Amino acid sequence: MISLLFDPRPKISRDELYDRDYELNKLLEFLENGSPIMVMYGVRRIGKTSILNVFLNETNVPHIYIDARVFEDQGYNRETLYRVLSNALNKLRSRWSSVLEYIKMLEGVEIMGANIRFNRRRTGLSITDIFNTINEWGVNHGIIVIISVDEAQQLRYFKGGKGRVDFTNILSYCYDNLRNLKFIVTGSEMGVLRDFLGFDRPESPLYGRVRDEVTIDRFNRQKSLDFLEKGFDECGFKPGRTVLEEIVDAVDGIPGWLTFSGYKYCKNRDPRIIREIFDEEKAIVLSELRKLPSEYYRLALKAVSLGNKRWRSIKQALEIWVNHSLTKAQISRTLNILVKLGLIEKREGEYEITDPIVAEVAKEL
Ligand SMILES: Nc1ncnc2c1ncn2[C@@H]1O[C@H](COP(=O)(O)OP(=O)(O)O)[C@@H](O)[C@H]1O
Ligand SMILES: [Mg+2]
Repeated sequence: MISLLFDPRPKISRDELYDRDYELNKLLEFLENGSPIMVMYGVRRIGKTSILNVFLNETNVPHIYIDARVFEDQGYNRETLYRVLSNALNKLRSRWSSVLEYIKMLEGVEIMGANIRFNRRRTGLSITDIFNTINEWGVNHGIIVIISVDEAQQLRYFKGGKGRVDFTNILSYCYDNLRNLKFIVTGSEMGVLRDFLGFDRPESPLYGRVRDEVTIDRFNRQKSLDFLEKGFDECGFKPGRTVLEEIVDAVDGIPGWLTFSGYKYCKNRDPRIIREIFDEEKAIVLSELRKLPSEYYRLALKAVSLGNKRWRSIKQALEIWVNHSLTKAQISRTLNILVKLGLIEKREGEYEITDPIVAEVAKEL
């Protein structure tokens, strides 16, 4: 039997989502009484997309959803941006057809059948024009429209290069002027997202703006065990307590890994498979860590994973491996970036790797 909880895709409906009542309530409060923007922080695989999906579906509020990781593959250029926007608007109008009447009025919009397409060659249509129009629709119908951007830190790459788009400028304009739009943004690279939005950075257009924030935490041990038990129960299967504990010991309370392990173990109910499952998880992480831009980042992660928790011993380990001395600034920069990427965190002067699978992989980097 298939388990809803162990479905490896981001969850969509409430009955697939374990717990997260607190986070869903925070989003509901935000919708009803909150500021114009909600920021959801949380490391990779913690459940941000799932919570966002479930919220948007449950409330049935008109919304646009953009996963900003598509630009990584398809390019940080205006063509891609307008294509992604028109796809998102097509989804919106398929549920809320009256919005089409408003979008039609925009210059450079082509309606093919009922499909919206932007023809940017014929017009100087801007992102704010589009948001203005959606807002107007919201105002005239007395409804709030949510614009959600998943992994929004990626939008920072639109700022450089040709035909650039400054999203923090657009956001601050919408924040001040478009009362019927509300934004929800998420980010796994929490420090990067924070820097990009710049609520605390005086040069940022969003500086000092009031916002709502929620940080998604991992499940505690008891919830993790309960999650696994419920998931296996849905598969009609009762593995021994030691199996559940072995999984939780390896992946801690990170829902994405609990789900992945449960899903795989449900398919092949042999305790010997558990090693292989962890190896698969490590392979996924390794391919992600390969994207780190410099050798120093990998070595610093390795140093932390091998138990060097303090700044000084991380520096020593790195210097041995690269075989020359490094400046304080180089070490600080490296560690700061790893913190901003959400890979390590600093607690009372000690660095720790946030994800135990990452820690395992880092030992072998
Ligand atoms: N509360 C939850 N209940 C059930 N499954 C979850 C929960 N949170 C996350 N998952 C599962 O974990 C994986 C990662 O979740 P996702 O929402 O994609 O995380 P994120 O967006 O933070 O990277 C997915 O397979 C999802 O189904
Ligand atoms: Mg996600």
